[in-house]
Parts: sequence; C-alpha cells; structure tokens
Amino acid sequence: MATDLDGTLVGDPEALSELIRYFEAQTYNITLIYSTGRHLASALSLIEQEALPQPEILITDVGTEIYERGKTPDSQWQEQIEQSWYPEEIKKIASTIDGLIQQHVPSAHRVSFTVNSREPVTELAKRISEAGIPHELIYSSGIDVDILPPGCGKGAALEYLIQKHGWQDANILVAGDSGNDKEMLTLGYPAVIVGNAQEELRAVKDHPAIYCATRHCAGGIYEAWNYFHGTPSIITK
Ligand code: GLC
Ligand code: MG
Repeated sequence: MATDLDGTLVGDPEALSELIRYFEAQTYNITLIYSTGRHLASALSLIEQEALPQPEILITDVGTEIYERGKTPDSQWQEQIEQSWYPEEIKKIASTIDGLIQQHVPSAHRVSFTVNSREPVTELAKRISEAGIPHELIYSSGIDVDILPPGCGKGAALEYLIQKHGWQDANILVAGDSGNDKEMLTLGYPAVIVGNAQEELRAVKDHPAIYCATRHCAGGIYEAWNYFHGTPSIITK
C-alpha cells in the first residue's frame, strides 16, 4: 500500500486504528510505502507523533527523495532526477513574480512556494516554459506549489519502486487526497481518493482504476482495500 500521509492516512485517529487492526488480522503481509510532500525530518516526526506503523519505504519531498532503510536517499533515483534540473534558473524567474513565497526546504531537488491565489502560479508556469526549462509543476490544496525535475513526482517515484522491486503483480493500493497525489493515483494501479479529498482531484475521479471513497482519511483506505482486495464472499447456489 502506497499512501500519502496528511489528510489521507493521517486525519482520523479512530479510522486509522481500525485500518491497522484490519491489516494486522490479514494472513498476508502488507508492505507500507508512505509518500509525502514533507521533508524527511518532518515526515519522521509526524510518524512518531501519530504513532504510525513504520513504513518499509518512505518517499519524501513530493517524490524527489526515496528512503529505504536508513537516512540516505536512493542514489540511483537522485542521479536519475538530476539529469536536467535547473533550480537556480527557476528561483531567478520566481524572484521576479509577485505573490510567490519561497518555502525553505532542505531538499535540493525541489523548489517550493506558498501562494494565496492562482495568478502567480499561472505566471510562473508560463515563464518557466517560455525559458525552456524542463520541469514538473504541482499545485496542491490551493496553497502549495512544487517545481520538480522533469518526469519526477510521487507517481514517478512509486513507479520506479514498483519496477525496482518487481511488484507489478502485487495487490497494490495507492491512496491520496490532494494535487500532489494525482500522478500516483493515475498510474493505473488500484487507487483511492479519500472522502475528504481536495476539489483539485475532482477532475481525476472518473479514472477507471480509481475508487472514490465515502469515508474520510484512513476510513477511505479501509473502504477501498475491501473494494479492491477484500476477501471475496463465498457464493452458494
Ligand atoms: C507538504 C510540504 C510542502 C509541499 C506540500 C505540497 O505540505 O511540507 O513543502 O509544498 O506538501 O506538496
Ligand atoms: Mg495529503
């Protein structure tokens, strides 16, 4: 299971306990992958604060860093996303646009901002494209803007891991609630948009592999796990 944290796995403590109990009661193992916009230290403190089960793999910084055991990011992934990454040029353009407040994040593989409206986001996207700088722009929750290396994001990071570990045939579930989850939710693997999701995910709701849950946060994951991978009921004639 690959899940976002804030607003997806985290947000409804009772539903989270129910989901954890349910997973523990299954006869199979569930590999937990957390994928968050937070940086490593922030993600680790959330895991501790919310007493979340330890994940096998932690994807941080909107897919730009992958941690499998230990505190060193996957170097192959780092090399791959560094191929055409021009953060200084992006910052230079951004500094000339009003309404972009730069976030101070430790990752060297994303340039992030906070905004109060869509206008500066549109302007930034236009100017970076005009300058011919390859990038991904991700706008989440109406306030966060992440500029990432081209071909990078939570979706690309997850796909990289699925290929690396040969998990194509596993029972996968991807879960999210906001814009930065869109890519991983639309990879084509079974996915859930939790009931409390942001408006910006409305457009992807019709995707064939996506289940739209009624319940919020972990409750929505529970609902979707049963929908996709629950034990089939015995059919009697
Ligand atoms: C998290 C991160 C922030 C990022 C946002 C959207 O809130 O802390 O840096 O911009 O997710 O990806
Ligand atoms: Mg979220």
